[in-house]
Amino acid sequence: MHIEIITTPNEMLKESGFGSSKACNSVLAALRKDGQGHSVRLNTCSSKDDLDDIIKRNPELVILAVKYIPVKHEDDIWLSDYFSQHNIDFAGSSRDVLEFDSNKVLAKTHLSNKGIKTAKYFVAIPGQYTNENELPISFPLFLKPLDAANGNGIDDLSFVTNFTDYESKMASLYESFNQPILIEEYLDGREYTVAVIKTHDEKLIVSAVEVIPPTSTNGLQILGSQAKIDDSEKLIKIENTDIERRVTTLAIDAFNDMGARDFGRIDIKTDISGECFFMEANLVPGMTYGSSYFPEACGIAHEFTYDKVIRLMLDGVLTRASLNQLSNMPLDSGKNFTASLSTTH
Ligand SMILES: Nc1ncnc2c1ncn2[C@@H]1O[C@H](COP(=O)(O)OP(=O)(O)O)[C@@H](O)[C@H]1O
Ligand SMILES: [Mg+2]
Repeated sequence: MHIEIITTPNEMLKESGFGSSKACNSVLAALRKDGQGHSVRLNTCSSKDDLDDIIKRNPELVILAVKYIPVKHEDDIWLSDYFSQHNIDFAGSSRDVLEFDSNKVLAKTHLSNKGIKTAKYFVAIPGQYTNENELPISFPLFLKPLDAANGNGIDDLSFVTNFTDYESKMASLYESFNQPILIEEYLDGREYTVAVIKTHDEKLIVSAVEVIPPTSTNGLQILGSQAKIDDSEKLIKIENTDIERRVTTLAIDAFNDMGARDFGRIDIKTDISGECFFMEANLVPGMTYGSSYFPEACGIAHEFTYDKVIRLMLDGVLTRASLNQLSNMPLDSGKNFTASLSTTH
């Protein structure tokens, strides 16, 4: 099958998707050696012209390593929209579902309406509240950007226990991100991440692991940008079957209730009593070989190799693309295609 992987120069992004060119090259290598004879090409696109060149080559399937391409002085080009408008199958979730990944409040309100627990929150700009008593939730609180990823804007100062620290973190986040800030109740329990893969027969393969962030000099365990850059967090198998069941159930419910397709990673945190809360969804998860949570979680929970993870992540979309090719074929050639379909992957 003719497959193209689409990414964009990484320094332009605040939400990084699969990751740097290293991650995209690992996906490319996994696909090239999966024995199905796919012709695969990796494209780093920064303009609509770059995308139009791909359309001209008419791939049977595209793998979107990022959600959108930022274009100077113009609206972002959302790749899932762009390729579906050109009738090209793409891996991953549709544009409207990807909004849940980009906007944490949208995901939290949608899922809490479906009965999924998530930390209490409010959204505010600097100066909106003038003293502690006006705040909708009491301290301790946790401040973070609405739509960043990779721990950007998150550090020990995100955890605040008084109004002075609240105002100071609020001001610095607002200056960096120039948008309202998400303020949550502070969850003081453990942290988990769950890789979910939906195969062509609608089966879910779920890999839940515990994430142990490094302990900072202030004694906090927060997965901020520095921990992610240093790669100093640890992922470990969940030994407690009750916790594993609860974390897995929440992740499956969140994945299904958002209408996610093919794959996604759900971040969960517990409070001190062990109750699970949805934290955020990563629907274009980091895929760096050897460090990203998605492939690592699959390895820890199921002993899947990186290449197997890629195969499973693309299982659903390869079937969709094969069926689409079949339905676009003249009737008599379709028979032979059906016969070969089961050996496609
Ligand atoms: N409400 C909260 N209470 C405690 N810690 C939190 C809370 N929200 C986020 N964190 C910490 O901050 C980290 C990053 O938050 P998250 O919303 O997942 O942002 P990102 O998109 O940058 O990964 C989490 O992994 C967790 O360690
Ligand atoms: Mg996260």
